[in-house]
Amino acid sequence: MRLGRKFEQIIAAAERAGSLTRQLLAFSRKQVLRPRVFDVNSVLSSMGPMIERLVGEDIKVDILLEDGPARIKSDPSHLEQILLNLTVNARDAMEQGGCLTIEAQVTNLGEAFVASHMDMKRGQHVVLTVSDSGAGMDQTTCARVFEPFFTTKGPGRGTGLGLATVFGIVKQNGGTILVYSEVGHGTTFKIYLPCSDEPETVAATPSPTRRLAQGGVILVAEDDPQLRKVLVTVITRAGFTCIEAAGPVEAVALARSHDGPIDLLLTDVVMPQMSGKRLAEMLTERRPGLPVLFMSGYTDDSIVHHGVLDEGVHFLPKPVTPDQVLEAIDQVLGHVEQERAG
Ligand SMILES: Nc1ncnc2c1ncn2[C@@H]1O[C@H](COP(=O)(O)OP(=O)(O)OP(=O)(O)O)[C@@H](O)[C@H]1O
Ligand SMILES: [Mg+2]
Repeated sequence: MRLGRKFEQIIAAAERAGSLTRQLLAFSRKQVLRPRVFDVNSVLSSMGPMIERLVGEDIKVDILLEDGPARIKSDPSHLEQILLNLTVNARDAMEQGGCLTIEAQVTNLGEAFVASHMDMKRGQHVVLTVSDSGAGMDQTTCARVFEPFFTTKGPGRGTGLGLATVFGIVKQNGGTILVYSEVGHGTTFKIYLPCSDEPETVAATPSPTRRLAQGGVILVAEDDPQLRKVLVTVITRAGFTCIEAAGPVEAVALARSHDGPIDLLLTDVVMPQMSGKRLAEMLTERRPGLPVLFMSGYTDDSIVHHGVLDEGVHFLPKPVTPDQVLEAIDQVLGHVEQERAG
């Protein structure tokens, strides 16, 4: 028996919420780990805007950098994964808003610390402190947070793998992670990573296979606020300018008031007010030839078979990972370029 449409939507919404962490992890996932010597300060400051977007307006974000160099030897994507997981957890613990503080410091671990933390070595360490003013945890919860699949979030909301992943990464990098929390008073995670005394490795240039570096203007129409945030962040980071619309009506208005060219419309198919397809039709009246990339969780029956989309239309099935979005944008723009050339 087919589930009703309403149930499908509820399930899709639940899956999306749960997949946010996964999407973000995929965002920083790389096929091959490339350890290099880098400064934690620079990763922290480059992630600032993304972190702010993720937590939303009701949470104040403070990022405090170490005055001097804070060099470690690791893969920068490891550090990104750690920060994204801790940030999402902090956000979930501050539903009514609050403060998130992320601080990097260099400290010399002495005999006393090493004696009480068996797996640690003496010497210079970068300490990354992530504190929130959220709900906090009781001791029983606190003792279990790094266990794989331990979650207090409802079904579909958390996998319980976030902190297990963070723990694994920290250990892999020869570090340690500690947690302090009190119910009603927030939570602090402290991560110790050994400093590297090697000089900074020059970052490898990003893969040249993508046309993305050319930039352009992309109109994003997506009614799911979390997914929209992720999309806009990923697309902006890839060098595009985003026009961000929370729905079709807003998209039409923003497109009208935008003077310059729009290189691509990235739109959800199923939205309130009007379908993505209708939106595309309205926009192409004024901007003929506007390339459109549709996204939807309803692939087979509701979209393709019922003829909602025309042939030759670019389509991206949900859930999408950031890599898939960039790949698809790249393909559509490449396709358009080819058509214009010949
Ligand atoms: N900053 C925090 N404040 C309060 N509780 C927290 C915080 N971070 C983690 N927790 C608790 O630890 C549990 C495990 O966290 P973890 O990140 O491993 O999984 P999750 O967030 O539930 O799911 P996932 O990260 O896979 O989406 C959470 O469900 C929550 O109860
Ligand atoms: Mg988590």
